Amino acid sequence: MAQNWSKSSWRSKPALQMPNYPDAAFLKATEERLASFPPLVFAGEARALKDELARVCRGEAFLMQGGDCAESFAEHGADNIRDFFRVFLQMAVVLTFGASKPVVKVGRIAGQFAKPRSSDMESQGDVELPSYRGDVVNGIEFNSEARIPDPERQIMAYRQSAATLNLLRAFAQGGYANLNHVHEWMLGFVENSPQGERYQELADRISETLGFMKAIGIDGERNSSLRETDFYTSHEALLLGYEEALTREDSITGEPYATSGHMIWIGDRTRQPDHAHVEYCRGVKNPIGLKCGPSTTEDGLLELIDILSPENEAGRLTLIARFGHDKVGEHLPKLIRAVQREGKNVVWSCDPMHGNTVSAGGYKTRPFDRVMGEVSAFFDVHDAEGTYPGGVHVEMTGKDVTECTGGARAISDDDLASRYHTHCDPRLNADQSIELAFLVAERLKANKSATASNSEKAA
Ligand code: TRP
Ligand code: MN
Repeated sequence: MAQNWSKSSWRSKPALQMPNYPDAAFLKATEERLASFPPLVFAGEARALKDELARVCRGEAFLMQGGDCAESFAEHGADNIRDFFRVFLQMAVVLTFGASKPVVKVGRIAGQFAKPRSSDMESQGDVELPSYRGDVVNGIEFNSEARIPDPERQIMAYRQSAATLNLLRAFAQGGYANLNHVHEWMLGFVENSPQGERYQELADRISETLGFMKAIGIDGERNSSLRETDFYTSHEALLLGYEEALTREDSITGEPYATSGHMIWIGDRTRQPDHAHVEYCRGVKNPIGLKCGPSTTEDGLLELIDILSPENEAGRLTLIARFGHDKVGEHLPKLIRAVQREGKNVVWSCDPMHGNTVSAGGYKTRPFDRVMGEVSAFFDVHDAEGTYPGGVHVEMTGKDVTECTGGARAISDDDLASRYHTHCDPRLNADQSIELAFLVAERLKANKSATASNSEKAA
């Protein structure tokens, strides 16, 4: 076990972004109740994900992580989960083909309920109330009662996570993820997209490949790998009392695991090396993500890598870069060089959402071109440094919302009002998500040909 660590050692450190619960005794009783509930995930699954991420680290697989900015209690319907998964799988197929590598599928789901905020208070007119911190903490409605942090919400978040995870497991293993279905859905997207022509060629190649496989007897009926997929869950480990209550000792290895989800990450606002969030995460054995924004320095990053991944185990740590489309070139190369120089094993993933938020007519939005611009810049930098761009991390939904502008359907600033449903940040809608996957796949394909021609030259 990590030195001087316990699942509650974070309590003696400064902790940013934590709610002030008015009733400490009720909070404690609730956390004790949670601690008596079954774990949501099994430690063996978190280890399996770590092994898959180790493959990403070695350049043998690609990570795709995505989901809502924040899940909500109000939108916990089967349709929502299904629509999300349907889009997620289509993205995964396209990326698998583009990369010619397995895609490690990690949802921001079944636990993504706590949100960091830029300010403790929110004002509307002359009324000032505590900020909304996610459904696991308080209510989004702007009234004083809703905004009081309520421990009972942790129980609700746990139960919603359990139900969501249950359905996702059923979808992933029960036939819904059959490659042939997913491929049909993807063809439907291409047919209906105003930019469909651009994606047709890749789609045709996938069709041909599946046709060939079927002809030689590889199909979903005979091969479970075509019918099933492995899907993992992740969320920001922000509400540490909740995480502590779900921290369990693995019965096989005796090691501590966060069992609230397979992978957890540390946000850009709470990554101080001597603070509570880093303290909690360093001790659990799950794969850990670390968001790296423009304030990340080389030394600061190396210090965090030493704390979070002291054994330098591949798959343990994923660095999620979120600089903004115009800042990647300034920040990413020096961080990559520091990591390379020290021989640290990390996965580099690109979050093209959080550095590209702008306001338009009272809405927070993200122009699709800037999102894609950050992904491109991320790939360019890795090409130049000779390192592996291991994955993407996106905020997305399976619904036809109007939260990010642009994309093939060219959502404009004026369209935002029509279906702006997010509880927090603007998400890519279903079409924009699949489009992003096609564009990333093109890029992955180009990289592959570049690698192939380099090795030809070498030979
Ligand atoms: N089992 C493989 C995988 O998960 C192939 C596969 C089956 C797949 N269904 C899928 C890939 C849906 C992407 C999406 O990669
Ligand atoms: Mn967000």
